[in-house]
Amino acid sequence: MVITCLSLFLFSLLLSNIQCYDQDQKVINLQQPGLSEPSNSIFKDLILGELNFLHTSDTHGWYAGHLNNQDSFTGDWGDFISFSTHFQKLTNSLGLDVLLIDSGDKHDGNGLSDITIPNGIISTRIFNTQSYDLITLGNHELYNEDYSIQEFELSVNHFKDNYISTNVEFKDQESWINFGQKFKLFETKFQKKKILTFSFLFNFQKFNSRTRVIPIKEILKQDWFNELLLKHSNPKNDSDKLDLILIFGHIPITNHNHDDEDELLALHLHLRKFFPNLLIQYFGAHSHIRDFNQFDSKSSALQSGRYCETLGFLSINFTNYNSDKDSIFNRRYIDFNRESFKHHLNKISSFHDLDFNQLEFDTEKGLSISSYITHARSQLNLTFIYGNIPKNYMMYEYPLDHEQNLYNLLRSEVLPLLSYTNDQVANRIILINSGSIRYDLFRGNFTKDTEFIVSPFKNKWEFIKLPLNLALQIEPYLNRGDFILLNELQSQNYLKRNSQLQEFKSLGGKTCPIVNNPSLKKGYVTFDYLGCDGDDVNHNSIPFYPSPNVIQSLEINDEESQQIDFIVYDFVKPHIIAALNSLDPIGNYSNKDFKYYGNETTGDLLIKYVVENWS
Ligand SMILES: *[C@@H]1O[C@H](CO)[C@@H](O)[C@H](O)[C@H]1NC(C)=O
Ligand SMILES: *[C@@H]1O[C@H](CO)[C@@H](O)[C@H](O)[C@H]1NC(C)=O
Ligand SMILES: *[C@@H]1O[C@H](CO)[C@@H](O)[C@H](O)[C@H]1NC(C)=O
Ligand SMILES: *[C@@H]1O[C@H](CO)[C@@H](O)[C@H](O)[C@H]1NC(C)=O
Ligand SMILES: *[C@@H]1O[C@H](CO)[C@@H](O)[C@H](O)[C@H]1NC(C)=O
Ligand SMILES: *[C@@H]1O[C@H](CO)[C@@H](O)[C@H](O)[C@H]1NC(C)=O
Ligand SMILES: [Zn+2]
Ligand SMILES: [Zn+2]
Repeated sequence: MVITCLSLFLFSLLLSNIQCYDQDQKVINLQQPGLSEPSNSIFKDLILGELNFLHTSDTHGWYAGHLNNQDSFTGDWGDFISFSTHFQKLTNSLGLDVLLIDSGDKHDGNGLSDITIPNGIISTRIFNTQSYDLITLGNHELYNEDYSIQEFELSVNHFKDNYISTNVEFKDQESWINFGQKFKLFETKFQKKKILTFSFLFNFQKFNSRTRVIPIKEILKQDWFNELLLKHSNPKNDSDKLDLILIFGHIPITNHNHDDEDELLALHLHLRKFFPNLLIQYFGAHSHIRDFNQFDSKSSALQSGRYCETLGFLSINFTNYNSDKDSIFNRRYIDFNRESFKHHLNKISSFHDLDFNQLEFDTEKGLSISSYITHARSQLNLTFIYGNIPKNYMMYEYPLDHEQNLYNLLRSEVLPLLSYTNDQVANRIILINSGSIRYDLFRGNFTKDTEFIVSPFKNKWEFIKLPLNLALQIEPYLNRGDFILLNELQSQNYLKRNSQLQEFKSLGGKTCPIVNNPSLKKGYVTFDYLGCDGDDVNHNSIPFYPSPNVIQSLEINDEESQQIDFIVYDFVKPHIIAALNSLDPIGNYSNKDFKYYGNETTGDLLIKYVVENWS
């Protein structure tokens, strides 16, 4: 096997000295260095159909895989490429089709994407080495003008006709053009299924000035859209007949927040007016959960988690179209690691006599992407080690008071490390919203990457001097009831939390039974529309303890004083002002009562803690 360096032509402008491996050198063929894949997992297999999909979403830069203490997610982008290449060949050899789809959000949440300026300049190129059949963008490609320009130049130009966005526009010079194709009509290679596809972003309104999002409900009124639907619902010509409508995009497939307008359901009802009987398949994203849903028996919807933890699989068996017995749609959430990837290939390939446990698994392209990622991480200095995290600190797995609860670590040890800007002896409360923490802190090396993973947000602190007894009432006030604290960058995190809470609250025991089997590893036990059998690997359940809206540290440095400096991130300020004006009947608090208190991020404070305690 000769490994050539694909990475050379793609990346040579950005990084020099790319390491390559040939048959005389040791080949890196196990995800990123230092990791191992899980073993002896108990699997549920994929059920292939005439049309098969592999789906990713909300990857947020995690192309190196999960480096700390999470065997289930140790696959990297190269492993995924090796898998999808074989998967495609094997299913095609059975005369079946495969489509590879991504639903957007490729920035924010991992050092590989976030350490560069502009953000994503390396990671987008890595992402784009996967040969997607259909691709679109998420809200994280729209916050910042630089991201959007880069996404347009690197990704739309790369994927061309495969880049679809029905409701996002880009300002090119002076004119507005579509962010990719508005729709795509195509026929599958093997089964010759005719598919009409659209891609939608949810009604996101914080887009930058070079872009705009047209809400779905507006698209439903547009002539071109309805004329296209009419043409295919009432075909004058056999070649206009459809086998499937495919909607993929960046929008949750279950409306957990029932106050909101359900955009996807509105779209579905609109489509059904034209196509009462046609199969419709949705792929969603944004709320970062594994999910499957059905609006009716002839449609289904899949959402494939986040952060390269999940590769979503869905198949459609058109032959079963009119039978009530067998399911038309089959879904599976594949854990993103080499053991899962190899298992599923071995299952479909048994008749070919191929054994993917041996060397057959890694493709040249997969290997060169893996080694390129290793190289890029080291060139970007993401491998720099600040210290060693002794055990897992988790957002939801332990009660708030537990020593391994991440929020507890933050409030008791980390927040007090914020530098004093003025009075060293002042009493202090430092309050953060739980949504500003994005991910758990796993045992292992604390590298430059870890900071971006746990809390990538750049904010500045502000403070207000308050009477102690008033200040102490703020945290309980904000944690009462359904009070919502949202930063636009954090909304998806909130949604995820909220959807878990909703499941807890509204399903009253209808979540999956707790699995507690010592021979199984902890992992996702996904509850969806069809029940609890969607995950490809049998896992032990991870306990879930909801976290409060906000947490705070309290430092009493001056016992005599009845005053306290109350310190918060600037974007939380409006909520503090509202709380104060409600708690203090004669209060008239406003922005101008707050003053600047430094710009260290929660990530900076965490590094301070790690260097002082774990290095
Ligand atoms: C952690 O750092 C050590 C020392 O540099 C290294 O040998 C090991 O491979 C690293 N572990 C991971 C998972 O990267
Ligand atoms: C589709 O379903 C039919 C009936 O259950 C079955 O005979 C056939 O093998 C299925 N096709 C595929 C590709 O799985
Ligand atoms: C039907 O569509 C095919 C392919 O687009 C085209 O070649 C043909 O002329 C059409 N026939 C009619 C009657 O419009
Ligand atoms: C990597 O980052 C660390 C910490 O910021 C710094 O001390 C070190 O000099 C950096 N190394 C390189 C090669 O840039
Ligand atoms: C509250 O403060 C604002 C300006 O900070 C002032 O215009 C307003 O009159 C005050 N209202 C009361 C009731 O004191
Ligand atoms: C943070 O504040 C310091 C001192 O005021 C300033 O020098 C630095 O540029 C600021 N950093 C950021 C990222 O705003
Ligand atoms: Zn996301
Ligand atoms: Zn999103």
